[in-house]
Parts: sequence; structure tokens; C-alpha cells
Amino acid sequence: MPGSLQVIVGLVPGLLFLVSSSYGRIVHTPLATYVGASDGTLDIFHGIPFAEPPVGNLRLQPPQAITTKLGLLKLEQATNGRCYGIDAVQGLINGTEDCLKLDLIRPSTHHHNLPVYVLIHGGEFNNGDKSDLDGSELVKTGFAENQAFIYVSINYRVSFLGFPSGREAQSHNAFNLGLQDQRMALQWVKANIGAFGGDPSKITLGGQATGADSVVYQMMAYGGVDEGLFQSVILQSGAATGLTPIPKPDYAAWQNHYDSIVNMTGCTSAPDGFACLQSLPIDKLANAFFVVFEQAYSIPQHVYAVVVDGVWFQDYPSVLMSAGQFVAVPTVIGHTTNELINRIPTYVGFSSDASILGFTGAYVPYVPQQTVTEMLALFPASQYSDSGPPGSGSQWTRVVDIDNYLQSFCPINTAASQISSKGADVWKYRWDARHSTYTANTYLGVDQGSDLTFIYSTPSHPNPGTNEHTEQTAPMNTYHMPSQSP
Ligand SMILES: *[C@@H]1O[C@H](CO)[C@@H](O)[C@H](O)[C@H]1NC(C)=O
Ligand SMILES: *[C@@H]1O[C@H](CO)[C@@H](O)[C@H](O)[C@H]1NC(C)=O
Repeated sequence: MPGSLQVIVGLVPGLLFLVSSSYGRIVHTPLATYVGASDGTLDIFHGIPFAEPPVGNLRLQPPQAITTKLGLLKLEQATNGRCYGIDAVQGLINGTEDCLKLDLIRPSTHHHNLPVYVLIHGGEFNNGDKSDLDGSELVKTGFAENQAFIYVSINYRVSFLGFPSGREAQSHNAFNLGLQDQRMALQWVKANIGAFGGDPSKITLGGQATGADSVVYQMMAYGGVDEGLFQSVILQSGAATGLTPIPKPDYAAWQNHYDSIVNMTGCTSAPDGFACLQSLPIDKLANAFFVVFEQAYSIPQHVYAVVVDGVWFQDYPSVLMSAGQFVAVPTVIGHTTNELINRIPTYVGFSSDASILGFTGAYVPYVPQQTVTEMLALFPASQYSDSGPPGSGSQWTRVVDIDNYLQSFCPINTAASQISSKGADVWKYRWDARHSTYTANTYLGVDQGSDLTFIYSTPSHPNPGTNEHTEQTAPMNTYHMPSQSP
């Protein structure tokens, strides 16, 4: 009798509040009873498992849905549930293999049929964690402004454990595991968010940098099949194409990485090297894939990342986007003003076309020299009389521009048009504000990630601050790209 329940609730709102604040943080589903933390404003559930732990025989295998009942899960405390990863600066990031978990934050006093935002973290497919960007301030602000929603942030396996490569990975059905993890998290959200007060028909999927790339990969999965897992997307500083070319399974360098890991761990003589890797102590395996990454002397994505496997990716992302083989939904997409500026070294002393060509030949070897030559003509040196930071040369900002258009602005604009021409509304933006607490060198301007400090709490920026939100977002250059019929 929902009618009479509403009447009672309407008559005694105080009682409803009391009931929610004491019991609202306990949620039952057929699989489990989840106990979150609550401060009366937010309920936070730390580390909800969304797949079977990928350990033992499930290491380096596609994620498996949870089928056994989990009973009572006390999720009041954040734990170190980070997936093993690598980072060019930090080195090997020890985590836990049992990392397929998600965090969920909702308003304590109002959670009925709320829209849901699911965040996929970035980290070059090699590091990152669901807790790196803390959505609590966002949920609080949404609630305060009558735009209440539920925030979900998901983990997925990264580095070698999420993206093994080579023939053996192919024959063991182990490509693009991290993307499959993301999808299983989305399936969990679709099936279970109703019990947490969310509306499974109002899910927005979002991400920044590699997180945004991941969102587009979810849109084009299995030829662009629409499983209703999300109804809109937000792509911050990422698109279907851009930074790194995605190899086919026979890419020799990646086979070599796999072989080196097998050799280094003593799995060469095992009857099945892949099975041997699955049964190693995790420290030993993690150390080996880290050493191989270091020896490759490259950025992590060039060692362990997504592969055009013919199953998830039925072709190169650029081809799938051009062919319209993706799920087109309302999209917010954009980049920051100076996006990739901090990737361009300041010690090279760029002063001529030749110095730029020499650099790009090594830095982006997969871009044909002809393309770079044409871009040099489009961005003539005469327009770059200014200079970058000391020692960077008179044409440093020219290189920055060329690189930004090549690897960020053009791919993002192209994706915006492609999504729009499939009939979905697209809102395109350029983020042009630095937060007052932002500590990056000022010559970097509004570089990649500048937008995040306005939205999320992070360890270095604990409080995004509501006043600054409204004040600083004004210069944001937003326009609406009308949708067209396909
Ligand atoms: C990670 O674990 C390995 C082996 O257990 C250890 O040698 C290394 O110091 C750890 N790294 C960090 C950053 O804690
Ligand atoms: C691995 O070891 C085998 C056999 O010892 C050797 O032939 C091969 O070159 C090694 N591969 C790599 C990538 O080190």
C-alpha cells in the first residue's frame, strides 16, 4: 500500500529523518547486506565487491559475476583495496589482487530514484584507484542545490594484471581484462543501484584522461552493442583516439614484454607458461612486470594497455567511430586550455622546424613525418615570437600547440562531431580556470587535471570550495552542438 505509506511519511517528516539516519546506511540485496558509514549528510559504502576476486585460477582471466551470497558486509571504513599498478615516477604500486570493488556515496536523507554518476578513474591503464578522486563534495553540493544524485567510483585491473598481451594472452582469452572489469561494474550498478536508491535508467558514465578514453571504449564495445548500461556520458580530456595508437595482437614489442615476464619469473620451462604466471606469488609477478616496464623505458601505456582484439574492439577505435559503431548518448566532452603542455620537455631548446621534427620523430614515432610537416605549416613560427620557460627555446609554445591539437583537441573535436552526427546531443567545452589552491607551475597554465580540483576533493586539494565553483566556472567556454539525424 504505497499510497498510505506516503501519507504517513508526509505527516511525520521528522520520523522519516530519524529512521533514515539510523538505518538508511543499511542496504539489502539478494546477494548481501551492505552496511555503510553515515554522518547524517552522506552515506558512504567503501569497497562494494562487484565481481568474484580475480585470484587463483581467475588471475589474468575475465571477471566473473558474484553468484554466492556474501552475507553481511561492513563497509564503513576505507581499506587499501588498490589494484597493483605501475607509475613512471612512483614505480611499482603494491596493492591487492582482490581489488574489484566500487565506492558508493549518496545523500543520507534523500535517496529514492536518484540519478547515478559512475566514474572511471584515469591512470594510463596502469595505475589509479576509485578513491583518488573523492566525490563527497560533489554529492553534497548536488543535494544542497536540489540536484541530488548517487556517486559511484569503480576499480578495474590495471597494468599487466588488467592488460596482458601476446599470443598466450590471446589463446587464454585474456585481452582487455580491465575494460571487462569496468563493464562488470556497470552491470552491477544497473542490477543493484535501485536497492541503494538509484534509478537504473538514469546512469551517467564519466571519466577523465584515460578514464574518458575508457568511457568511449565502453560505448564501442562488441561493435557498439547497447546493453542500457548508461544513458549519458561525460568525457573530460579524453576521446576514442589520441595519445597512443592501439596495437593489434601480433604487435612484436608487446609479445616481447610477455616473453620477458615469463623468462624472468622462471616460467619458461613450465608446460604452460601462462598457467605458471597465474600460480606465482603475486609479489614475484608484480616485480617482473615492473622490471619489464622499466627496461622498456617508455610510458606505461606503451607497455600494458588495450589491444584491438577483434572482440571488444572489432577494429581500431578511429575506424569504429567513423563507421558509427558505438552507442551514441547525450555527451559532455572537452579539454582544458593547455591540456598536454607538461608533456613537452622544457630542456630541448626548440628553435627550428628541424629541432621539432627531431623531437616528434622520437616522441610520437607513429605520427607520419608528413603530418608533422603539415602541422608546422599550419602553426607558423612567425606566430610564436613569445618564449616558454627558461631554456625551452623560442618555439616551445609552438610545439605545445602542435602536440595539443594532434593528440587532444582534434581527437576530442572529431569525437564530438561523430557522436553528434549519430543523433545524440553533444555539449562541448574548454576548461579555462586554475583553482586558487592549484600548485602546478604557472607557465603550465590550465593543464590537464586543472578541472578536477574544482570538482573533487583530492589529497592535495582537500576542499574544492563551493564559492570558487560558481565564481571560476564563469569563463568556461561552453556551447551546445545541436544534434542531427543520422
Ligand atoms: C612493493 O612490494 C615489494 C615486494 O614485496 C617491495 O620490495 C617494494 O618495496 C614495495 N614497494 C612499495 C612502494 O611499497
Ligand atoms: C626467453 O627465453 C628464451 C629461452 O631461453 C629465449 O629464447 C628468448 O629470447 C627469451 N625472450 C626474451 C624476451 O627474453
